[in-house]
Amino acid sequence: MEEVDFRQPFKLATWRGILKYALPYKKSFGLLVGMMMMVAGIDALSPFVTGWVLDDVIIASRPDLLPRALVVYLVMVSLQAVVIRLFIGMAGKIEMGMNYAIRQAAFDRLQELSFSYFDKTGSGWIMARLTSDIGKLADIIAWGAVDMVWGGTMMLAMAGLMFARDWKLALVTLSVVVPLLVVSVLVERALMERSRLVRKTNSKITQAFSEGIRGARVVKTLAAEGVQNRAFGELSLTMRRASVKQARLSAFYLPVVIALGYVGTGLALWQGGGSVLAGTLSYGTLVAFVFSALQFFDPVTDLARIFADVQYAQASAERVVGLIEAQPDIVDSPEALAREKARLADGSAVPRLSGRVEFRNVSFAYVPGLEVLKDFSLDVAAGTTVALVGETGSGKTTIVNLACRFYEPTAGSIRLDGQDYKELPLAWLHGNLGYVLQQPYLFSGTVRENIRYGKLTASDAQAEQASRLVKAHDFIVDLEHGYDSPVGEGGSLLSTGQKQLVSLARAVLADPAILVLDEATSSVDTETERLVQDAIDLVLEGRTSFVVAHRLSTIVDADLILVMKDGQVREQGTHRELLAMGGYYKKLFEAQFLEETEAAVLA
Ligand SMILES: Nc1ncnc2c1ncn2[C@@H]1O[C@H](COP(=O)(O)OP(=O)(O)OP(=O)(O)O)[C@@H](O)[C@H]1O
Ligand SMILES: [Mg+2]
Repeated sequence: MEEVDFRQPFKLATWRGILKYALPYKKSFGLLVGMMMMVAGIDALSPFVTGWVLDDVIIASRPDLLPRALVVYLVMVSLQAVVIRLFIGMAGKIEMGMNYAIRQAAFDRLQELSFSYFDKTGSGWIMARLTSDIGKLADIIAWGAVDMVWGGTMMLAMAGLMFARDWKLALVTLSVVVPLLVVSVLVERALMERSRLVRKTNSKITQAFSEGIRGARVVKTLAAEGVQNRAFGELSLTMRRASVKQARLSAFYLPVVIALGYVGTGLALWQGGGSVLAGTLSYGTLVAFVFSALQFFDPVTDLARIFADVQYAQASAERVVGLIEAQPDIVDSPEALAREKARLADGSAVPRLSGRVEFRNVSFAYVPGLEVLKDFSLDVAAGTTVALVGETGSGKTTIVNLACRFYEPTAGSIRLDGQDYKELPLAWLHGNLGYVLQQPYLFSGTVRENIRYGKLTASDAQAEQASRLVKAHDFIVDLEHGYDSPVGEGGSLLSTGQKQLVSLARAVLADPAILVLDEATSSVDTETERLVQDAIDLVLEGRTSFVVAHRLSTIVDADLILVMKDGQVREQGTHRELLAMGGYYKKLFEAQFLEETEAAVLA
């Protein structure tokens, strides 16, 4: 994913999408601003209080006033301490709250988005949005507000006090603000340029790491470590150079600000000192000006940083809002929504479909213009088994994805029990559907938990029954902790065959009217292969099934076999019919399955 250009105008709409999540904290924000103004006010006032003590207490020789001065200081310090304690807590609360709310919204949206979104958007990109971008935004909104209100208020209040006391001296002291502004703008620009490169490289490095981890095995088997290392080395080097330049530039800015602050202080001393000697300025006022000048520039570096952060954060905000506001391609129509609402209102279960599936002149393209399925028609009677065979890329998975409405046809329609499935609520369709993916995926957790994902209300006994049905029970009880064994992230602690058995158990637990099996090609050992085969024969009974088949027995017993080629049905019929036809299927069969038959006969 390309990094966004940072030098773009402030976009209100983007920020509105994020600030929505600050709304629940309106009151807290109000309080926070109030508290920050108070802290800043006390900060601005304190040099002048010191000046007053010097003039009116010490120089005026009024020891009786000393206790009063002490009380004033004590009140200021205690107030400061209490308010600082409160605002840190409050800003933290706002930050964490927003973090939580935005993250939740993004996660919820991820669950709703259609398959097509994930085709276009890499998981690494989404992960970065969910973690670093959201964190950055919450941070800049909560703490950026704190620093900005404090810095802004303090500088304004201090300048106000200085001008009120002696406008000429204030003008001289604060004249350094002009060069400061010029330097700030210049440095800011250069920094932006640099950090754009840093960020761009950084996101490439993240991607390289993530691919390095996921592809570690492949890299080893290809002995491609050298190539990978060199590519990564170059990236790292670019990153280092850009970062060093950026650091040098930052290292230049801070001393300039500090030096200018001292120049201001010097100017105050020089101009004010002369006036004190001439007797036109009190000693306390001079001290107040000197202290003020020293403090005045404290917030400058903070403000410059916030200014930069807000501009970067705009890119984060755009990406996060882009995720949260992404619209799923596949949503319930208004009629379907009304039907689903009515069902939820009377509390009835999802109606069971009988399972008749019709494809009517269905065409489909993942990428606009590139049709992978052309004018496909098929009428599957309830309770029958359709096997899909054909070479890789011929469109088998595409057909079952369309049947499940993970994608919708680009032309034509699909009917379930005689109704266009776009009129049915998605929840009804998915409540009637069991799907074992070509790459089985399990959630980290135990075997039992994974099976029960099929039907959350199922009892342990029902889960076990389902796994017995698909012949998964035996291998599960052999695991170290039986049904309570962890499966690892994505199921990594189980073999592919075992993962398939668990997914199969998960799919049949819900007793779906329509079952879809997208078998993985030859990723299973012979032993498990036989288990899975028997299991499939059992679970196909009594439901409409689509099986992308690589196993002979499934194909031989299927009610209908579709032989796919280049997104079209090349031949169809039963195993016998197709063999008799002596066409493409026969050839495929001879090439692919004869060996198997021989092996089975010999065994
Ligand atoms: N998410 C996707 N985005 C774009 N094109 C895709 C996507 N998935 C599949 N395709 C393309 O659609 C065509 C059909 O793919 P499909 O996955 O249906 O094949 P298949 O018959 O299931 O193959 P296999 O036996 O290897 O699983 C292929 O040309 C493939 O490149
Ligand atoms: Mg496939």
